[in-house]
Amino acid sequence: MKKKTLIINGSPKCENSLTFKVAKAFAEGLSEEEGSRTEYIHVSKLNIKPCTGCLSCWGRTEGVCVIKDDSMPEVRRKILSADTIIIAFPIYFFGMPGTLKTLIDRLLGIMCTFSGQELDNIKAGRHALRTPRPGQRLAVIASCGFSESEEAFHPIKVQYDLSIGEGKYAHFCCPQLKALAQAGSGQRFEKICAISRQAGMQFAHGSIDPALVELLEKPVLTRNTYRMLMEKFWKDEKGADENDKNSSRSRRSRQVTGTALGRRA
Ligand SMILES: Cc1cc2nc3c(=O)[nH]c(=O)nc-3n(C[C@H](O)[C@H](O)[C@H](O)COP(=O)(O)O)c2cc1C
Repeated sequence: MKKKTLIINGSPKCENSLTFKVAKAFAEGLSEEEGSRTEYIHVSKLNIKPCTGCLSCWGRTEGVCVIKDDSMPEVRRKILSADTIIIAFPIYFFGMPGTLKTLIDRLLGIMCTFSGQELDNIKAGRHALRTPRPGQRLAVIASCGFSESEEAFHPIKVQYDLSIGEGKYAHFCCPQLKALAQAGSGQRFEKICAISRQAGMQFAHGSIDPALVELLEKPVLTRNTYRMLMEKFWKDEKGADENDKNSSRSRRSRQVTGTALGRRA
């Protein structure tokens, strides 16, 4: 039977998300090597209610969440049946987007019940799956606006290290993606996707070469070029907004004049 890869995309930009495109390239590389098929979940297209904190899924209704009328039962099924899970998201306020965090919180029921274990003594990851799928692997692919991806990703790494276990999942965080996609007809962004694809091919055989991760995490643009591009980007954005306002203002004034003169604008 074909292996299954599930991409959980936490960017609200869905298919247009640059992180998602990098993750898709990674999954393509993986698929090329192991013949797996890939499925996507765009978190912001789903209906996911927040965890109520009742802890029933660890007690009275063990393993089962009390909320049943949203997308989570289906999401849980997909997660449990995937051989590889790729969680892709843009860094927001040095964390993951809230919608994705809401989804993660709702996974408590598929994790082992906490009954006083000490954090330091849990080697398998502090939130291990109740029924682990043999060989199931996780890759976390993030992107950030800052150039310093290691620092930007640090709070996420701490969260995942505590939950999954240090070294038990692959990860990388790409900086400057937006500028790379926009500058120079996107060739630099395409190059990042090509490297991500290569990383996926390597992941199929175990782990990703640290030199490749370094390439993915290294800022492509120099500090000055990046600043210049960002300043130009925001100036153009504001300019476009001003142009929009001016054209709708003149449209309105034409309409008013037209009406005053008794003709249609
Ligand atoms: C609400 C919001 C908060 C953000 N916070 C950060 C941040 O704390 N650090 C950072 O490096 N980038 C931050 N960014 C930039 C995004 O991480 C960056 O644009 C990302 O590459 C977009 O990826 P996407 O195209 O997949 O959505 C933020 C963006 C938004 C919209």
